[in-house]
Amino acid sequence: MSLLFSPFSIKSITFRNRIGAAPMCQYQATDGLVSDWHQAHIGALAMGGAGLIIMEATAVRADGRITPGCPGLWNEQQIEAFRPVLKFAQSQGCVMGIQLAHAGRKASAEIPWISGTHLTDAEGGWPTISPSPEAFDNDGKRLWKAPKAMTITDIKDIQTAFVQASQRALKAGFEYIEIHAAHGYLLHSFLSPLVNKRDDQYGGTLANRARMLLETVQAVQTAWPSDLPLGVRLSMTDWIEQGLQVEDLVEVAKWLHELGVDIVDCTTGGATPDSRSSINSGIAQQPDMAGQVRKQVGIMTQAVGEITDAQQAEDILQSGKADMVLLARQLLRDPYWPRHAAKQLGDDVASLMPPLHKLFIGKNP
Ligand SMILES: Cc1cc2nc3c(=O)[nH]c(=O)nc-3n(C[C@H](O)[C@H](O)[C@H](O)COP(=O)(O)O)c2cc1C
Repeated sequence: MSLLFSPFSIKSITFRNRIGAAPMCQYQATDGLVSDWHQAHIGALAMGGAGLIIMEATAVRADGRITPGCPGLWNEQQIEAFRPVLKFAQSQGCVMGIQLAHAGRKASAEIPWISGTHLTDAEGGWPTISPSPEAFDNDGKRLWKAPKAMTITDIKDIQTAFVQASQRALKAGFEYIEIHAAHGYLLHSFLSPLVNKRDDQYGGTLANRARMLLETVQAVQTAWPSDLPLGVRLSMTDWIEQGLQVEDLVEVAKWLHELGVDIVDCTTGGATPDSRSSINSGIAQQPDMAGQVRKQVGIMTQAVGEITDAQQAEDILQSGKADMVLLARQLLRDPYWPRHAAKQLGDDVASLMPPLHKLFIGKNP
């Protein structure tokens, strides 16, 4: 059996294989409520055979949504909306995770296929927050909104919102939480010297800039059961000299490991327009960065970035760079990718299938 299709456990949770669906914004929620779209999208990924699905960036507060179409977990109705989505995916043998997030100064944006740029208050936008008061960017068309620099009370309020969202995630039936500390959103903004210009205990040295993330993790741990997996997504580099470097993030991963975080999902970029996006051409290097974290820290990692081929995924695992691979765009192209991968690697395709598919198409996915 390949490593890709070997079952894998973190604490009390066993994944049927080491293929995870990376978190992917769908922009199909209303008032933070997931919809029929999510039922179909997540349902397809679950039927396709992934071992883990990490639900898209889900806001811990209404002002933490990237766009008005992003889901949230700041109220009880949102728990109810998630239930049928989870029920089906879990019935297919898939572990359901959720990425909890606050978008910080990159919140209040328009849905990308409309414009992706900043929404003014008159257009239905809302005030944003960040460690420091500088706007994300002048995108050439319009200035992004200047965020409010967070007070200590604001910081504590956000940590409380992460705790409450974790409690709601548990109630909804999620078995895995990933804290989003990447791509220029709030927790990454604290980590990155490109964004964080504070001179209090949350700014300055790397240890101070990491304080917000580490305190948030500790707060979530008070609410999230200790036998369920807790992961963190980190942007492993800001891609520019003045920004975060891989060595900084290895240090942060060490601190996360000491706190008891189980796994680090290694992505890159997003802090500023110059520090590239999460789907830029450099991301094929991300699995190597995951390897550095795994080797130097001894924590489990997830590798992500232009993984499209079964042998490529298997090689990442075999070379010890990661414990699990995450795919995003390839699973949008083909939610049944895990079946094709199993066939390519000579693994048991039928075990990934519901009985009807097994009966009629068996080993030829
Ligand atoms: C449509 C889309 C939505 C995404 N939404 C999120 C998200 O909600 N949270 C996140 O951390 N990354 C998000 N990403 C980044 C992916 O999780 C992943 O890191 C990136 O696409 C690289 O993987 P890939 O080469 O397999 O696509 C998104 C990517 C795409 C294409």
